Amino acid sequence: MAKNEKKENNLTAAPLLNAMLNYKTDPMTGFHIPGHNRGLGIYPEFLNLIGESALKLDTTDEFDNLGTLHPATGAIKEAQELAAAAFGASRTFFVTGGSTVANLALAFAITNPFEEVLIGRNCHRSVLTGLIISGAKVNWVIPKKLNDWSIFGSIQADDIEQKLKKNRNIKLVWITNPTYEGVVSDVEEIAKICKKYKAALIVDEAHGSLWSFNSRLPKSALKLGADAVVHSLHKTGGAMVQSSMLHLSQNTCFDEEKITHALKLLHTTSPSLLLLTSLDAARANLSSKKGQDMLNCAIDNALYFREKAKNIDKLHVLSDSTKIDPTKIFIKTDNLDGLELEYILEKDYKIEIESASDEGILILSNIGGKKEEFDYLLNCLEKISKTKYKPSKSNVKIMPLIDPEIVMNLREAYFAPKESVLKKDAIGRISSEVVALCPPGISILLPGEIIKEEHLPYLFNYEKLEVIKE
Ligand SMILES: Cc1ncc(COP(=O)(O)O)c(C=O)c1O
Repeated sequence: MAKNEKKENNLTAAPLLNAMLNYKTDPMTGFHIPGHNRGLGIYPEFLNLIGESALKLDTTDEFDNLGTLHPATGAIKEAQELAAAAFGASRTFFVTGGSTVANLALAFAITNPFEEVLIGRNCHRSVLTGLIISGAKVNWVIPKKLNDWSIFGSIQADDIEQKLKKNRNIKLVWITNPTYEGVVSDVEEIAKICKKYKAALIVDEAHGSLWSFNSRLPKSALKLGADAVVHSLHKTGGAMVQSSMLHLSQNTCFDEEKITHALKLLHTTSPSLLLLTSLDAARANLSSKKGQDMLNCAIDNALYFREKAKNIDKLHVLSDSTKIDPTKIFIKTDNLDGLELEYILEKDYKIEIESASDEGILILSNIGGKKEEFDYLLNCLEKISKTKYKPSKSNVKIMPLIDPEIVMNLREAYFAPKESVLKKDAIGRISSEVVALCPPGISILLPGEIIKEEHLPYLFNYEKLEVIKE
């Protein structure tokens, strides 16, 4: 019997949620952290703001028979096992420091100093921070640039094959899929190429945690041959902020123990039970009929918006139909750049979108979202399309579509003697820090990268930069 087979019929169970319910209804007399004593010792205004119930449940592992995270025991272990079964993983780790900590742990566990790795240029800064910790050497694969949209597109399997063929020392490929804007790469093909060249594959699927729960969404890399996959359940999966999962696939070539140790080293020793429970609840919800209906509704809302938006003058929707996650809607207009459009939506219409980029804005169709909200948004966009706005003169850029020129190992550059210089004086110098705007968290500069004039428009909120001392 496969490791997770016995759990598969019970994916709507929520063992950690149940343990927390028992803890809430039948508490012990406590003499332990957190010292706010179930809210009794907290600033009253804060208690009123977030509610008694949240504070009663604000506890950490090891107490009250709730189980422990490192090592996984009790209800936490059961919840992780059910998550593994739901996502089709051989092992799932709950992470309360977001996908950032999951990526750090993977880099730390899997890569070694000066070992060559192949990384998608559009990776999140946490992957690079992980490689600074490990000291691995970065080779880049540059995704297709969708220049009309000023964003990265998919990673081409051919490009990966060329890189692996040319440099046989590369034993790990690490890509982001989907992109922040929802563009999907052919992971199945990429995984086959990795196998051919005996390279492991990590997929940062931070923005794809819903994919295992609906056939109208792209397939998760866990089913397509990746060795490890990272999911930010808090981004779109319905868990609380900072709650992520790190999964090992059924046929992973990674050593489970190494990942366990890395997580133990990098993770807080006081994980929030509220966050862990929210991961259990999110998975149970997505496995349930109600959750499935909500997800279907989110997809329907997105498709509805995409269709209706076609009728709005000067508005364009990114829709490479087969290769996009439909719930991530990137739009642009002919007359406004992304930041201007974001500003107008916020100021004139009280609409908060996910993010703005050079050309356009990103809208998410989330579970629990309502069709009326999309009607309102469509209405506002229609009005905006009919209004004349003064063009902005700002020379601000968000999405760094620059191919980095790295002249030093990331770790060495990070720990080298450094100095702080004015931005304009930094041109031609070697950066000693990771500079990235979040979102999208894609690096503008890296330790060991030559700073060029073309970086300057992206560094609009920096006066000085950290560079290596000459
Ligand atoms: C592709 C990608 N990976 C990882 C992360 C880090 O995720 P978290 O915010 O959960 O730490 C992000 C965050 O935006 C991301 O976009």
